[in-house]
Amino acid sequence: MASPQIRFILICALVIASSAAAQQEKSTATRYFSQKFSAVAGETYPGGTYKFSNVANFPGSSAISASLITLVPGGLRELHWHNASEWAYVLNGTCRATVMESTMPGAQRPTETWDYGAGDIWYFRPNEAHMVQGLAPTGCTYLAGYNDGAFDDKKALSMSAWASTLPPEILAESLGVNTSDINDGISANTFTFLPLGPVPDISLDDFRNTIARPPALAVKQTHRFQVSESIPLMVAPSADRALPAGNESLTVNVTNSGLFWQIDAAGGWVREASTELFPIASDMSGAVIRFAPGGLRQIHWHPSLSEWQFVINGTLRVGVFLEPGVFEEAVLGAGDVGYAPKGSGHWLQNPSETEDAYCILIFDDGPFTSIELPWVLGNVPYQVSATTLNSTLAFAQSISYSQPSMAGQNINSS
Ligand SMILES: *[C@@H]1O[C@H](CO)[C@@H](O)[C@H](O)[C@H]1NC(C)=O
Ligand SMILES: *[C@@H]1O[C@H](CO)[C@@H](O)[C@H](O)[C@H]1NC(C)=O
Ligand SMILES: *[C@@H]1O[C@H](CO)[C@@H](O)[C@H](O)[C@H]1NC(C)=O
Ligand SMILES: *[C@@H]1O[C@H](CO)[C@@H](O)[C@H](O)[C@H]1NC(C)=O
Ligand SMILES: *[C@@H]1O[C@H](CO)[C@@H](O)[C@H](O)[C@H]1NC(C)=O
Ligand SMILES: *[C@@H]1O[C@H](CO)[C@@H](O)[C@H](O)[C@H]1NC(C)=O
Ligand SMILES: *[C@@H]1O[C@H](CO)[C@@H](O)[C@H](O)[C@H]1NC(C)=O
Repeated sequence: MASPQIRFILICALVIASSAAAQQEKSTATRYFSQKFSAVAGETYPGGTYKFSNVANFPGSSAISASLITLVPGGLRELHWHNASEWAYVLNGTCRATVMESTMPGAQRPTETWDYGAGDIWYFRPNEAHMVQGLAPTGCTYLAGYNDGAFDDKKALSMSAWASTLPPEILAESLGVNTSDINDGISANTFTFLPLGPVPDISLDDFRNTIARPPALAVKQTHRFQVSESIPLMVAPSADRALPAGNESLTVNVTNSGLFWQIDAAGGWVREASTELFPIASDMSGAVIRFAPGGLRQIHWHPSLSEWQFVINGTLRVGVFLEPGVFEEAVLGAGDVGYAPKGSGHWLQNPSETEDAYCILIFDDGPFTSIELPWVLGNVPYQVSATTLNSTLAFAQSISYSQPSMAGQNINSS
């Protein structure tokens, strides 16, 4: 049987051959790099609900996977750990998360616990044990991203699943208790995953003060980042938007083009959780983007990052270009997901004339770099752009080579 990649290319070829009008159909029919995640059924456990997005149900997403977890008050994502790094964004409610670091020897391993509210992010390094519990009154919903497209949180190594398989005398000796005191429940083959515990009734300070063996040291870098502390990046429309004075003998001044994260306030804003702002997250990063009506994150690609997109609310049109003849366009609603693999060309736009759209971007590495289309075209003489685009020279000269990274309502649609 043909691989999914080959099948996708074949579908593209067929559709391109059939008719121009089929372009929209191709996008929605394949959904190789976009996923109707909002329609994926969740699984229900005593402590909450779980659903995942990974290569098993979203084959294009080769480098990033995610889980969407809702914990009721007292619901516990039990102690577990995994090879993938975890970068999570709390969508609503409040949850208390604890991570145990491995960076210090012996009894000095630091632990960090925070109560995370909407807009807060945590980052946990690979294989450091962690847990999350829903707090009163609403519990919480969080989106956890992982830098491994095949990862499934239910396959993470978990304390309950392991303890239930250990020889009782080994467990007893390890914990310094008598074998006869090992609870029968532990020796049953139990994997609790999202159990329901008592609703936490102690404050964060009390929690930190009452743990059985308080850590001797504080963490060196915090695992928590509050997106509200990230300054929204935007600039007002200005001289920046003016077309550069030039002619066919002139190449746009690169150092003066100033395209990197220039954001037109009419387009929306970006709040970054970059490695500079959130240094512990050295191998994952992200951002929250507000798209104003018509706002466009313009055509670009990332030399070293894959990008996983989750729509919080509103609607986004997304486009991704993989190779000649292989591209996809889709419309994502709240709770849906898009993906742009490392190096692939892509764009996102809010097609609404009245409503904002918000999305979360998750990247599979830390340092952020991005290359915008007009920046690239602006670095070659106009004749080269004209030949490349098969356009007239006048067209190449009319391009706004300093169009911002995030543009406002399209000049053609107002
Ligand atoms: C974790 O990574 C190691 C080394 O790459 C691999 O052998 C192991 O199978 C991985 N564990 C899981 C659960 O994927
Ligand atoms: C929390 O967010 C999830 C996912 O967006 C949503 O399904 C749920 O209704 C929200 N819950 C509340 C209480 O807002
Ligand atoms: C284990 O059992 C022995 C004998 O019944 C008892 O003396 C000892 O205190 C127990 N140890 C623990 C850790 O409970
Ligand atoms: C083309 O650009 C050069 C350099 O800025 C300038 O000297 C020249 O006058 C321009 N020619 C035209 C026809 O605009
Ligand atoms: C290009 O822009 C830089 C920064 O504004 C400026 O210092 C430099 O003089 C410009 N070079 C040319 C050839 O215009
Ligand atoms: C959409 O989500 C953002 C970020 O969570 C929030 O600030 C905004 O109020 C939401 N808009 C609507 C209409 O729910
Ligand atoms: C370029 O455009 C012209 C029409 O303007 C067309 O005849 C020609 O086939 C195009 N060339 C390519 C390579 O597409």
